[in-house]
Amino acid sequence: MARFKERVFSGVQPTGNLHLGNYLGAIKRFVELQEKYECIYCVVDLHAITVAQDPVELTHNIREVTAAFIACGIDPKKQIIFNQSQVQEHAELAWIFNCIARIGWLNRMTQFKEKAGKDRENASIGLYAYPVLMAADILAYRATHVPVGEDQKQHLELARDIAQKFNSDFSERIKALGHGETFFPMTEPLISGPATRVMSLRDGTKKMSKSDASDYSRINLTDVADEIAQKIRKARTDSEPLPSDEKALEVRAEADNLVGIYAALANKTKTAVLAQFAGAQFSKFKEELTALSVEKLGPIGSEMKRLMQDTKYIDSVLANGSARARAIAAPILKSVREIVGFVQS
Ligand code: TRP
Repeated sequence: MARFKERVFSGVQPTGNLHLGNYLGAIKRFVELQEKYECIYCVVDLHAITVAQDPVELTHNIREVTAAFIACGIDPKKQIIFNQSQVQEHAELAWIFNCIARIGWLNRMTQFKEKAGKDRENASIGLYAYPVLMAADILAYRATHVPVGEDQKQHLELARDIAQKFNSDFSERIKALGHGETFFPMTEPLISGPATRVMSLRDGTKKMSKSDASDYSRINLTDVADEIAQKIRKARTDSEPLPSDEKALEVRAEADNLVGIYAALANKTKTAVLAQFAGAQFSKFKEELTALSVEKLGPIGSEMKRLMQDTKYIDSVLANGSARARAIAAPILKSVREIVGFVQS
């Protein structure tokens, strides 16, 4: 793998209501990774339209994810922040990968089954091919590391399967054209941290979600201090005090979730948080969690709102990022066309 330059790629869908789950499960990691890696962070608008979107809202949501990236601390000068639809190479490589990936592979994707539900015949072909586009996102840059949540692990395995099949289907050609043994890397997922999976504040067995009917189930990144405080106060818990041992959280989903959120926001382990709060009542712990959440999320929310007033600036970040992304992807796509055997000028 040493042959491939280390590069991080990840994407966030612009589908509205960015919440604590998006922050702790994804964006906070993106911020940390920029210390060590060259990073490309993409607002995946092509993925968003796999289900129907209102165009005006879509535009707003693309800008909002961009604002969140910047407000959370990703430096758009050092790293690349852009939206997927401005770099045509994604769609082109996705088509080529549609011809590499097998129907049988896609039929195993659990997220499609969940999202399509019972009415599978009526789902868009885009929703079905979604993971192929995701593979193209990553491999258009030959990215070596992808920070994602647990729920995206299967899609990442598919990206590796596609990379491997491309490498082996065209192995003679890849060698003959001087690319060495393999053209695409076997991308590694980066999954870690105490709260990669943030659960609903109303039900510790359900993921925190933008589409939950109750706004009390989630903390939105743009919530103000009062809203954060109220949501944490109303968060479901059991009646026991906090345990001293992480093992005891296994059967207490809501308690586990709140401890996980505290740990992630404080950059501590759950064990360290329990050492601090063992025996405390939830009323006390919730006060501390509120203070910490307001301290960490308050500035992000206000910076997002400030940035959203300046759409010119946001759009210029995306334009600049797209040009820089294209500069990396274009030569890779040129080689792919050559490997496949297309005539190009
Ligand atoms: N499917 C990812 C999600 O819903 C978003 C995504 C699209 C992505 N393309 C990607 C993540 C490439 C990582 C790499 O979270």
